[in-house]
Amino acid sequence: MNLLDVYPLYDITPTHAEGHWVYGADGTRYLDLYGGHAVISIGHSHPHYVEQLTAQLQRIGFYSNSVHIPLQQELARQLGEQCGYPDYALFLCNSGAEANENALKLASFHTGKPHIIAFSGSFHGRTSLAVEATDHPQMVAPANHSGHVSFLPFNDIEALNNLEGRTDIAAFIVEGIQGVAGVRVPTPAFLQALRQWCDKLGALLVLDEVQSGFGRSGHFFAHQIAGVQADIISVAKGMGNGFPIGAVLSSPAIIPRHGMLGTTFGGNYLACAASLSVLNILNKENLLSHARLSGEYWMDALRKVPGVAEVRGHGLMIGLQLNQPCAPVRKRLLMEHHIFTGTSMEPHTLRLLPALNLPAAQMEVFTQALTQVLATS
Ligand SMILES: Cc1ncc(COP(=O)(O)O)c(C=O)c1O
Repeated sequence: MNLLDVYPLYDITPTHAEGHWVYGADGTRYLDLYGGHAVISIGHSHPHYVEQLTAQLQRIGFYSNSVHIPLQQELARQLGEQCGYPDYALFLCNSGAEANENALKLASFHTGKPHIIAFSGSFHGRTSLAVEATDHPQMVAPANHSGHVSFLPFNDIEALNNLEGRTDIAAFIVEGIQGVAGVRVPTPAFLQALRQWCDKLGALLVLDEVQSGFGRSGHFFAHQIAGVQADIISVAKGMGNGFPIGAVLSSPAIIPRHGMLGTTFGGNYLACAASLSVLNILNKENLLSHARLSGEYWMDALRKVPGVAEVRGHGLMIGLQLNQPCAPVRKRLLMEHHIFTGTSMEPHTLRLLPALNLPAAQMEVFTQALTQVLATS
């Protein structure tokens, strides 16, 4: 059997990794500013993480959700306290798409309404409703066209007036910061307007924080920068630092029917231990404020690099819009300077999504390398 050909691949075979370094099979050391796509939040193989996961596996690795798993309760308690939504309820699943799928299902069930509003440039995952709410037609198959999702322009407050009088809208879904679109930040006024329209139409505000959450923006959730309250929040990626876990956080007013949500693997012991370790390190190493302050400093430095047209983002979720297509630049950064970065659907925008404890010295290494590559591209 062969692997289904779905991913474009770097010609690199990592054998081990530590902190912000990834080592290839040929011994080359790479600086990881991509975090395996915004997943590595506390650094590769962080000692606390390895210790906690190993110890958990020695005790018990898996049982089904038909028994009490106190680690789930502990994760709900600690996450609620750290993220600023202590009275919300936690549903644990396995990925970002699954979190959004369940978030939208919950919103439709709670409101009794069938329609979802999403926004241009959005990416919410590749499962049925999540991909239908995704504004990248190449990811959608014919069976994903249920007609229950429509799109409005991102960051356009005026366009929301078209919704006047609608009674069928269950939810608006929006990313805390659009990642795949090339790090597009919603204006605080836009998110505040969405909140008002939700209240007016009896719809729920679903914040997709799969990429921008868990401290990446320098705030626990990126939407908190705008001071708005979400009804439902979806998370994944940085939540487990590489161990698969996703989650839906829902307002106490939302009560699902038994049997409506569920998953075999969601909330297993190892996933909970991984996420508790992430919360512990975010707290102990002060990573939100490190991401916020060092991100601002780094973005200022990157704005001065000739060939960089615009720098967008918050914390350590950074989009660099170049004056040229970014794919060849990314390739040179990787091949000549051994630095991992990410691209996006916006062909000129490079994405930086490093671990939240990236030291300033490594930011400087990248700024120098980028300056050199752009000067000779
Ligand atoms: C904002 C956002 N939502 C959802 C997803 C889907 O997550 P997953 O790949 O874990 O299904 C992603 C993944 O990139 C994402 O960036």
